[in-house]
Amino acid sequence: MRVLVTGAHGFLGRSLAAVDRRIEWIGCDLDSETNGLDPYHRLDLMDRDAVRRRLEAVRPDWIINTAALTDVDRCEIETDLAWRINVEAVEHLADTAARVGAGLVQLSTDYVFDGQAGPYSEGDQPNPLSVYGHTKLASEGVVLARMERAIVVRTLWLYGYHPRARHNFVTWGLSALARGETIRAFDDQWGNPTYVHELARVLVAMCRAGICGLYHMGGATFLTRYELMLELAASFDLETDNIQRGSTADAGLAAPRPLRSGLTTRALETQLGIRPMSFTEGLEHMRLQPGFQRDFAASS
Ligand SMILES: NC(=O)c1ccc[n+]([C@@H]2O[C@H](COP(=O)([O-])OP(=O)(O)OC[C@H]3O[C@@H](n4cnc5c(N)ncnc54)[C@H](OP(=O)(O)O)[C@@H]3O)[C@@H](O)[C@H]2O)c1
Repeated sequence: MRVLVTGAHGFLGRSLAAVDRRIEWIGCDLDSETNGLDPYHRLDLMDRDAVRRRLEAVRPDWIINTAALTDVDRCEIETDLAWRINVEAVEHLADTAARVGAGLVQLSTDYVFDGQAGPYSEGDQPNPLSVYGHTKLASEGVVLARMERAIVVRTLWLYGYHPRARHNFVTWGLSALARGETIRAFDDQWGNPTYVHELARVLVAMCRAGICGLYHMGGATFLTRYELMLELAASFDLETDNIQRGSTADAGLAAPRPLRSGLTTRALETQLGIRPMSFTEGLEHMRLQPGFQRDFAASS
């Protein structure tokens, strides 16, 4: 199976290539540098001709589109850019994928919900609060309406370790706590953190099984971001006194957040016969990743 990954230098993109060596992976992202990926091609999803040429040359079985403007506060300010990357580029990607016979996996988010009454299942009514949430919801509709072989996976709170990936809230918290810094974590945002390697495995399994449609994927543990940091510290024998409670409203963020969120995963569990990892299990797996002990020697 040949799979083209857009956003291959991003957090999820990095994790995908490592998950199944039998797949012929082809990475694409904005940078000119390969950053350790081979084969790799520079590809701006907003460049329609380049997208068409690349897909015609590669002719993948599946495309996993992890590329997006993921900075939710930036989306609130640079609205046009958010719509161009998160929706218009996906329209063109979907049309071109259908023409070359490729299936398309589109990543989406719990930000399509308003966070009044989580956890949410696939049948619950979306009501995005932010520009990011609106764009991602629109992208879901585009992919599902225009393609037969379409998979949309909503996920949330990705964490894990990859030596070349940027920090996520878990590696950031771990680094700060190991340095003895005080951190503030929201005690009014509730959800289920998703281990990035597990998400990557699930996406591959869905492609292999040809499971199309809209699905939710998240971890088995539901908690606040404050509780998450306490669990993280306890798991790595770090000082919990340095973790302070914060509130979303006080943080003055540009984009509103869904507070009582969370995604239920029963549909995927039934389809794939999986049981999502707890937060503790995800951290245990993360600890065993190549390079982790070197980067987090003080905290492991
Ligand atoms: N991380 C989470 O907690 C989370 C939660 C829910 C849903 N998701 C969704 O899951 C997907 C993957 O998330 P992630 O955390 O892996 O994102 P990420 O780390 O921000 O990676 C996205 C990648 O896409 C690239 N990109 C941006 N604009 C592009 C364009 N015009 N053409 C080609 N590539 C472009 C980015 O490059 P630059 O960095 O150079 O801009 C980056 O390498 C996204 O669709 C996101 O919305 C993530």
